[in-house]
Amino acid sequence: MKLESLSLPGFRPSRHVYRGEKGGLAPQRERLPTFVDNHSLYIYLDRGSEIPITPTPNTLKNVMKLFLDTAQVRFIEDRVHTGLISGITTNPTLIKKSGRDPWKVYNDIIELGIDDLSIEVMGDGSSELISNAMNVNQNYGNVATIKLPCTINGLQACKHLTKIGIRVNMTLVFSVSQALLCALAGATYVSPFIGRMDDNSLDGMKLINDISNLFVAKGVETKVLAASVRDAQSVGLAFGLGADICTVPPSVFDDMATHVLTDKGLEQFKADFLA
Ligand code: E4P
Repeated sequence: MKLESLSLPGFRPSRHVYRGEKGGLAPQRERLPTFVDNHSLYIYLDRGSEIPITPTPNTLKNVMKLFLDTAQVRFIEDRVHTGLISGITTNPTLIKKSGRDPWKVYNDIIELGIDDLSIEVMGDGSSELISNAMNVNQNYGNVATIKLPCTINGLQACKHLTKIGIRVNMTLVFSVSQALLCALAGATYVSPFIGRMDDNSLDGMKLINDISNLFVAKGVETKVLAASVRDAQSVGLAFGLGADICTVPPSVFDDMATHVLTDKGLEQFKADFLA
């Protein structure tokens, strides 16, 4: 099944459009246009027939995933039960904030049915990183995605772990060249920290777009995981600019579902329903 996009008046053409096996930018991947909006129209080519449709949530599930960025188990359960969360990311700071033993936190998260949990390992050299990663892998198997820092040691450890089939999330990424090295090391995810970039007057969203365009142009399988997300608006923007996954704090997830006009409208509908 191939995905194409038609340009309608007002629609901005995108470099992300998949145009088929021969003429396409990235034969292995299907991508949404840079800006997904009401002007977009998709045609799925299936066994020669053309069926104009707009993407359904199920279609989109394969191209946009949401992770929760927290180690507070009590904040995870209800949100995971919505069926909208595909994974959890943690880091040593989030674990410290939870005030709990990391292994107990990981066990509790996995018990909630999570099958993709990013666990950050620390270590002075690549051997120590690898051995700590192997320890995590022995405990949690495929549920654990090993989170490694984007340093030479981290990249070396990533190359080793991905060669033996362990998923790796390369974290603390702040440049295209770092992302490129993560891809060469076989990383499953590369995590640009957009909020921390913005804190330092750098353009986090531009980085998401630059990495994403490079990966699409070269057919790179590594997924762009937008991290350090501080507000709900950034999520749509990051996906629109090519992120495959966004990891968001629970409060940002809640904000995504909330609008003052929805609340106001619902209040009125409830009152009218009961009148
Ligand atoms: C997730 O993988 C990151 O560790 C996290 O998003 C960092 O967020 P922060 O910059 O808000 O600490």
